[in-house]
Parts: sequence; structure tokens; C-alpha cells
Amino acid sequence: MQIFLELANLPEYKYECIDALEFSRKIPNEAVKLIITSPPYNIGKSYEIKIDIQDYIKSFEPLISELMRILKPDGSICWQIGNFVDDGEVYPLDIYFYP
Ligand SMILES: C[S@@+](CC[C@H](N)C(=O)[O-])C[C@H]1O[C@@H](n2cnc3c(N)ncnc32)[C@H](O)[C@@H]1O
Repeated sequence: MQIFLELANLPEYKYECIDALEFSRKIPNEAVKLIITSPPYNIGKSYEIKIDIQDYIKSFEPLISELMRILKPDGSICWQIGNFVDDGEVYPLDIYFYP
């Protein structure tokens, strides 16, 4: 981490353990070059409640909207996501999120 920050000429950094939407709302417009995130996959892990896939995808609209606001025009979002499985059917979530 330190090597990357020196190469990127960043003077300081800090970690914040807060809600992603709350955090992104504190960041100015077009301030971020790269966003890397691995949100919950809606598979019933301890930190999530498994819900209908359409509701799950819709639940990210406020966050994705904020991420687009803070992203530089030439920036990138890496949205790490897995598969949602329901009643034996596999839904590759990356296809649902791809614009
Ligand atoms: C799929 S896991 C990511 C795992 C991570 N990539 C790793 O390798 O450890 C989703 C993570 O998002 C966190 N999370 C869930 N809701 C969140 C929220 N509203 N804001 C920030 N993080 C959240 C969960 O606690 C969990 O650690």
C-alpha cells in the first residue's frame, strides 16, 4: 500500500469503516480516478439479507449514482461481483450491473 501511494504521489491516506453510501457522499464531484469495490452478492451471508434479485440490483442505484458523481470522466470502477443462485438457477451478476 505504501509503495503504491508513493508512486501515485499521494501525501496521506486513511481508512474509514462506514457505510459506502455515507462515505461516498463526503467526496467532491469527479475527485476519484479509481474505485474498487466488492459489494455483497445477495447470497445470504451474515452481513446481508437475501432478497429478490430485481430489488437487490435496484438497491444499489443510490450508491452507483454517487460513485458516478465522484468518478473522474476518465476514471474506472471495478465492481467485483459473483453469482446469485436461486432455485437452482445461476444469475451472473456482472451482466446485470454492466451498463
Ligand atoms: C462480498 S463481501 C467483500 C469481501 C471482500 N472483497 C474480501 O475479500 O474480504 C462484501 C463486504 O461488504 C461489506 N458491506 C456490506 N454492506 C456495506 C455497506 N453498506 N457499506 C460498506 N460495506 C458494506 C460487508 O461487511 C462485506 O465485508
